[in-house]
Amino acid sequence: MNAVTARTPTVASRLPQVGTTIFTVMSALATQHGAVNLGQGFPDFDCDPALLDAVNQAMRAGLNQYPPMAGVPVLREAVARKIERLYGHTYDPGDEITITAGATQAILTAILAVVHPGDEVIVLEPCYDSYVPNIELAGGRVVRVALGAGTFRPDFAAIAAAITPRTRAILVNTPHNPSASVWTPPDLDQLARLLRPTDVLLIADEVYEHMVYDGAVHASASSHPELAARAFVVSSFGKTYHVTGWKVGYVAAPRALAAEFRKVHQFNVFTVNTPVQHGLARYMDDPRPYLELSAFYQRKRDLFRAGLGNTRLRLLPSEGSYFQCVDYSAISDRSEEAFCRWLTSDIGVAAIPLSAFYEDGRNQRLARFCFAKRDETLDSALDRLARL
Ligand SMILES: Cc1ncc(COP(=O)(O)O)c(C=O)c1O
Repeated sequence: MNAVTARTPTVASRLPQVGTTIFTVMSALATQHGAVNLGQGFPDFDCDPALLDAVNQAMRAGLNQYPPMAGVPVLREAVARKIERLYGHTYDPGDEITITAGATQAILTAILAVVHPGDEVIVLEPCYDSYVPNIELAGGRVVRVALGAGTFRPDFAAIAAAITPRTRAILVNTPHNPSASVWTPPDLDQLARLLRPTDVLLIADEVYEHMVYDGAVHASASSHPELAARAFVVSSFGKTYHVTGWKVGYVAAPRALAAEFRKVHQFNVFTVNTPVQHGLARYMDDPRPYLELSAFYQRKRDLFRAGLGNTRLRLLPSEGSYFQCVDYSAISDRSEEAFCRWLTSDIGVAAIPLSAFYEDGRNQRLARFCFAKRDETLDSALDRLARL
């Protein structure tokens, strides 16, 4: 018999630009140097034991097989009740709420459902790292519009200029990762005015909806009837309930959009973890955990900001989300990536360079910290940062 050489065929990458992310690099560096990791955007504390009990009970009650494709009805009903209560919009839990495998899958699925090859999709930079590859996978063309330099406020003139007959959708993220800026109700009005004469859809990434500070109210697209009529509104239980590893979220959208969403969802994940959905539904009976989340994180934000106030880092506003950005130009003229590497290896605190959220990797001398950490973790980071 002739010897056969096993050979893996070469493939043309669908995402040739994608490599190892800075998040992976910084976390590895943090481990290597024993640094306090304020780079990664997730809590280092556990969730409410009552939520664990609720999921556990669901498992023991035998709720372990495939749920309905769109999610278990009790959870969709709980989500619809919450949205109605907070934002005043009534979604039909039967046809308009879909439970997803985190916000990440919701955003990808919404994009795959509506973006055709050659369609343009507007993203506001800096932006979350999954948006651009998602649009590229759908064959769409990414149109980047910068948020205001230094303010990270939406630039409506620039957004208006970016809209063309080929624009299919715009992605908006508020509260915003990485800048921690938030949209206001007048911002929603301005967006609605721009979109009114068009068929442009809105994909609203609102995973930090329950983290807004200083008395502000989250400006949800679902609170604006005109925008809600053309929006996929996405949120994440992982962020709200300190369980990012569970990867469960939802999308709320008007019937016609939800129907297209579900066509892709059905052949993508099909369904999402049954007992976790039941546990979340039961836990949502009590609104206090999400109503009190802003106060919970505002206290951490204030503790962290007070400590950073003793350093030469200049604090940018943190209006929402669990991020705090700093300008380090009084300390160093290194590039953002070089500064974050040095901060990790020499000072012992990991952060993420803002350049990671821009296509051109621009250097504004800004770094992002995550303050979703135990007070002891924040204190120990502040001890080290005091050297700055
Ligand atoms: C802006 C933004 N959108 C989406 C996600 C993903 O959420 P999930 O973990 O529910 O997929 C994150 C997580 O960091 C995020 O920051």
